[in-house]
Amino acid sequence: MDKMWAGRFSKALDKEADDFNSSIHFDKKMYRQDIQGSIAHATMLSACSIISQEDSETIIDALSGILEDLEEGKLEFDMNAEDIHMFVESELTKRIGDCGKRLHTARSRNDQVALDIRLYLRDESAEIISLIKTLIAAIYKQASENTDTVVPGYTHLQRAQPIMFAHHLLAYAMMFIRDIGRIEDSVKRMNYSPLGSCALAGTTYPTNRNMTAKLLGFDGITLNSIDGVSDRDFCVELMSAFATVMMHLSRFSEEIILWSSWEFKFVELDDSYTTGSSIMPQKKNPDMAELVRGKTGRVYGNLMAMLTVLKGIPLAYNKDMQEDKEAIFDSCETVKKCLRVFSPMIETMAVRKDKMYAAAGEGFINATDLADYLVKKGQPFRAAYKTVGQIVGKCVAEGKTLETLTLGEYKEFDNDFEEDLYAEIDLRNCAEKRISEGGTCVESIKKQLEYVKNYI
Ligand code: ARG
Repeated sequence: MDKMWAGRFSKALDKEADDFNSSIHFDKKMYRQDIQGSIAHATMLSACSIISQEDSETIIDALSGILEDLEEGKLEFDMNAEDIHMFVESELTKRIGDCGKRLHTARSRNDQVALDIRLYLRDESAEIISLIKTLIAAIYKQASENTDTVVPGYTHLQRAQPIMFAHHLLAYAMMFIRDIGRIEDSVKRMNYSPLGSCALAGTTYPTNRNMTAKLLGFDGITLNSIDGVSDRDFCVELMSAFATVMMHLSRFSEEIILWSSWEFKFVELDDSYTTGSSIMPQKKNPDMAELVRGKTGRVYGNLMAMLTVLKGIPLAYNKDMQEDKEAIFDSCETVKKCLRVFSPMIETMAVRKDKMYAAAGEGFINATDLADYLVKKGQPFRAAYKTVGQIVGKCVAEGKTLETLTLGEYKEFDNDFEEDLYAEIDLRNCAEKRISEGGTCVESIKKQLEYVKNYI
């Protein structure tokens, strides 16, 4: 196939170089956005009397036909086309002849591709936000069912203090809500149309950039044509937001993996989201969570690749920028795939309240509360802390717990101890007493649930 730019050349492009240069095998993903942009462009060209009304209508009809045929699988992408923009234009010309050749007036592939990526990322961002909301809904469901499920809270992966399982889950809901905010913020900054920046300097034609911007749902136009075609900072921002989503998913995955182990047994994942072993009949592996944790690496990698591609290129367009797309596509696809399995995995997981409670009963996680008991009797915290440390030491040495120690034994350490200490160190009571705002008491959990509900 002759290149559209073949006029200046006397020899064809080397085959290997042609393949190397071509992006159709991946940028075909943006066919919808490319056609959408072209339809707006053709509409504007005739409104500004740059092409005739009749030509514009013919172009738009044919573009709609191409879109429909692609959607229905009646038209195949031509892998010899250099990129999606060339493919659509040459298909258009095949269908309507010379009239199709008028579409590229007052436009360049440089502003075209800058437009397509923005439209693509806007669509993907909306889809990813809705998938995050589904995840928040799954977390909300599990949290509502576990508002008074006592579980050890951890620091350093050592049992620390009793908390409600809902409180732990809702921490993730807060993170995912901020992830939505980060994506929305980036989209807000991205949502300015570069179309009409042309190759880099603008155009001599009397175009109306605001018109195409409006037709395509942008909040305005980019104000500098060089910036419009040159920067991909919006890709960096969104890929960073997606990497943060993955970081949160990965931490959550790590906990799911731990919780579903024999050592913890806090949760049991549904059979539909676990796999077996080819050799060990007893195995039930949390592969989905492990894969999500693993795939986080590629989403981080894509962000790094994008930043590195951009770091040394002079203004304006350079072919290096073609490298943005595979990274973007992969990040979007990966985040979507992960969310699609992660949410139902969370929604269907069975929570073993008995195991959580049993674990909370070991490990002296009410030791802080025992110290606070002495503080309430008027002792300085440091002194109380020391006494309780000695009591824990005795329990460890004798295989006892704070609950099984007799009042007599307590009194050997400090005479301030009375019978009411046992209520003070009751695990559920310990969590219930954390009444500070944002703490683990049921009241605070209810408030959090109310807040989270707004995002599902
Ligand atoms: N396929 C190209 C890309 O993705 C489109 C823009 C090409 N522009 C150019 N002047 N060669 O970046």
